[in-house]
Amino acid sequence: MSGTIVILGVFVADTAYRAERPPRMGETILGNSFALGPGGKGSNQAVAAARAGGEVHFISRLGRDPFADMALKTWADAGVKPAVTQTGDGYTGAAYIFVEEASGNNAIIICPGVAGEISAADIEAQRTLIEAASVFVTQLEQPMQAAHHALKIARTAGVRTILNPAPAADIPPDMLALCDFVTPNESEAEGITGIPVVTVADAEAAADALLAAGVGAAIITLGENGAFFKDGARAVHVPVVSAGPVVETTGAGDAFSGGFATALAEGADPVDAVRFGCATAGISVTRPGTAPSMPSRAEIDTLIANPASD
Ligand code: RIB
Repeated sequence: MSGTIVILGVFVADTAYRAERPPRMGETILGNSFALGPGGKGSNQAVAAARAGGEVHFISRLGRDPFADMALKTWADAGVKPAVTQTGDGYTGAAYIFVEEASGNNAIIICPGVAGEISAADIEAQRTLIEAASVFVTQLEQPMQAAHHALKIARTAGVRTILNPAPAADIPPDMLALCDFVTPNESEAEGITGIPVVTVADAEAAADALLAAGVGAAIITLGENGAFFKDGARAVHVPVVSAGPVVETTGAGDAFSGGFATALAEGADPVDAVRFGCATAGISVTRPGTAPSMPSRAEIDTLIANPASD
């Protein structure tokens, strides 16, 4: 039986612009398309985990505005249970996302709005929820102090902890030591360890540095090259499972984290959970958008059972 997954994070409205290239400073260029949709790393991870079959509770803050309505509808549709404070004192956040037409790759500016004020007191108010979880997940779009406090509560209660250290930031060393799993991409791994990650061997060197910092296991996500897992006993490179042509990579890391958390909450071996996360991400990149691109459990299971299917 699956335990609950509690995710702390941020919802923002994604405003995604597809163009051949980003504008230079002072320049205006014509783009190819625009889309408005639900985003924010924590919310995307919650949607990914719920659509993958997890029982998911999401801790955050929203304003009282149309973007907040978008958040509540997104979570209701995906089956995410909100543990959210709404306030009229600020706005629900938004992200500017440039998507490069040729590659589907992206560059992002995020303004978290009222979720940028999530405090240790907000976390304390959700202590019981966190302590009862099987898996706790956070990222770094809300204040570091809130993530740190929640990780302490989870670790003390024996809840398995996952930190997706995105966006890149200076992480207090004692906070890393609270994490059973840390899931940086290549640039975030370099930001934390100082080791540039280009090859799988680089990923292993960065993983070694994270293990030395006290994390239980390091999982470096490597884009089209899958993910590299290392703990005290095993080092495994898990290749990506292609589900078709890449349309947009925005949110792929969130798809991975959500899928990984769901498999872990179901009791999967961590390396099998990494495979499940890679399959989740492999499907998400074949679709536009972030939260809307998260696959259903049936889609993930089909891809894992038939990895050659396109
Ligand atoms: O990881 C992708 C997400 O990062 C986007 O949805 C955007 O909102 C930013 O938070």
